Amino acid sequence: MKLLAFAGSSSSTSRNRELVKYVLKAFTEDDVNLLDLNDFDMPVFSVDREKNGFPQEAHQFLKAIEECDAIICSLAEHNRSYTAAFKNVFDWASRINVKVWQNKPMFLLSTSPGAYGGGNVMATAHKFFPQFGADIRETFSLPNFNDTFDVENTAITDAALKAALDEKTADFKQSL
Ligand SMILES: Cc1cc2nc3c(=O)[nH]c(=O)nc-3n(C[C@H](O)[C@H](O)[C@H](O)COP(=O)(O)O)c2cc1C
Repeated sequence: MKLLAFAGSSSSTSRNRELVKYVLKAFTEDDVNLLDLNDFDMPVFSVDREKNGFPQEAHQFLKAIEECDAIICSLAEHNRSYTAAFKNVFDWASRINVKVWQNKPMFLLSTSPGAYGGGNVMATAHKFFPQFGADIRETFSLPNFNDTFDVENTAITDAALKAALDEKTADFKQSL
């Protein structure tokens, strides 16, 4: 099983990347491609720029999706929506192939230090990713990251939240 995993963040200390790494602990036997959005740093998308062609990175992002069997992605929330870093990759990729997610099974996550755990960006992605070819099998938002996640040990410290995420992770695995 080839897994593609990434956080929708360009932060070097991304909380969402930590959450992705936690979920990946359940997939040790699989071939994991953990992407860093910083490797897909492109000029800000514009309809004028695209007339000159598409950056190589946009093709590479789509190829990484094409080559995987399933996607684990955790979205960071900026101002109630996608981060600019994620949205830019998404916009460029969607102009090459509007079915960006290529019907791959997806575990969609989000987290933030806030009580809603990135619930706004989750709601947007949950509603609209399917229009871009996502087959969302499970979703999970981790609230209050600073109090519920132990970065040093890549662990969830809240027992109820850990149980809920572990169950969703098991269900996602089962669905593949
Ligand atoms: C510009 C900006 C806007 C933000 N807006 C929100 C927000 O709307 N909701 C929220 O829960 N957190 C918000 N945050 C806090 C982020 O959730 C927090 O920085 C989180 O760590 C981002 O995820 P990341 O660490 O994976 O990049 C914002 C942070 C920044 C820098």
